[in-house]
Amino acid sequence: FIADKGNHRHFMAKEIHEQPEVVGRTVAHYVDLAAGRVKMPAELAVDFRKVNRIVISACGTAYYAGLVARYWFERLARLPVEIDVASEFRYREMPLFATDVALFISQSGETADTLASLRYAKAGGASILSVVNVPTSTIARESTAVLPTLAGPEIGVASTKAFTCQLAVLLALAIAAGRARGTLSERDEEGLVSALISVPGLMAEALKSEADIEGLARELSKARDVLYLGRGMAYPLALEGALKLKEISYIHAEGYAAGELKHGPIALIDETVPVIVLAPSDAVFEKTVSNMQEVAARGGRIVLVGEAHAAREAAVETMATVAMPAMNPIIAPLVYAIPAQLIAYHTALFMGKDVDQPRNLAKSVTVE
Ligand code: G6P
Repeated sequence: FIADKGNHRHFMAKEIHEQPEVVGRTVAHYVDLAAGRVKMPAELAVDFRKVNRIVISACGTAYYAGLVARYWFERLARLPVEIDVASEFRYREMPLFATDVALFISQSGETADTLASLRYAKAGGASILSVVNVPTSTIARESTAVLPTLAGPEIGVASTKAFTCQLAVLLALAIAAGRARGTLSERDEEGLVSALISVPGLMAEALKSEADIEGLARELSKARDVLYLGRGMAYPLALEGALKLKEISYIHAEGYAAGELKHGPIALIDETVPVIVLAPSDAVFEKTVSNMQEVAARGGRIVLVGEAHAAREAAVETMATVAMPAMNPIIAPLVYAIPAQLIAYHTALFMGKDVDQPRNLAKSVTVE
C-alpha cells in the first residue's frame, strides 16, 4: 500500500472528501438492499433479546462515535448503554455480567487503553464486539465478533472517515438489535435502512458547503476560544467538532450540550468567542434555537450549521450559516460530521498548521 493524496493537498482533505464513497461501501456491507434490511456478519452470534446492556469503551474520536451510538441503541433497541473513555473504563472496576455486550470502537485496533478495557471485559465474562478499521489488529483478533469499518487506510492523525464509517456500522448494529428485540417493526427497519442508504448522497451535498466554510477560516483563526453547541445526537458531534479544531489548529475549543449553556459556558460569551451551533432539524431543534437566542442576546457570534429553514426560524443575527440538506434526523450525525471536519481543516490550513501531523499527537496511542 502506498499512501497517496490524490488531487488533495493533505491526507485529511482527501479523507474528508472520500467519505461519500467509503461510507457508501461500509453501508453496502451491512445492508441487504433488495430486502431493505440490515445484515450482520455470521460471526455475530449475539442474541440481543437476552442482552440487558451494552457497555462501550473507546478513546478520542472513536469514543464520540460511541456517544452517538448510545442514542441509537437506547432509542431504536431500548437497550441501556454505559459508555466511558477507555482510560477510565479499564480502572473503574465496573461490574460486568454475562448478559452484557461489551463494545469497543477503534480505528487502529491497537489503542492501549481500549485493548486493556477489552481484556477486562473479557475476564468479566461479557461478549466482546469490536468496530475496527484494521481487521488484522490486536483488538480485532481478541474479539468474539468484529464489525469492520471499510474506511480504508486513514493517514491524517485527526480521524475523519473512520469516524463516519464507525457511525454507519453502529447505526446498522442498533437497527439489527432493535429488530431482534422487537422494538422495531419491519416498516421501521425499512425506513431506517433507506435513511442509511441516503447518507453518501447527503454527504456529497454537505461537502458543497466547503466554499462557505473556507470563507469562515479567517474569522475563526483569530479566536482564542471557540464553543460548539448541540443537543441530542448533535451533542457528541459538538464534542467531536471541538476536538477536531483543537487537535489541528491549537485553538482552545469546547463542546457543550446546548442545554448546559446556562450552567457555565454562557459566562464566557462575548463578541470574541465564536459559537458554532450544530442544529439538525430533529425533535430538540426548537430548544437548540432558544439556546442560540441566548447566545445572540449576549453578543455571541454564531455560526449556525443547519437546514435553510433553521436560519429563518432562529431569527438571530449570525456570523455565518452553513447550509445542510434536509434529512431524516436519525442520520444527521453522519452528515453534520462533514462541516465539523471542514471547519477545523480550513481554520488550521489558514493558520499554516501541519494539518496531517499535528504537534504532540500520534495516530495510534499504543502506550498508556
Ligand atoms: C488518537 C488519534 C485519534 C483517535 C484516537 C483513538 O488520539 O489521534 O484520531 O480517535 O487515538 O484511536 P483508535 O485507533 O483507537 O480509534
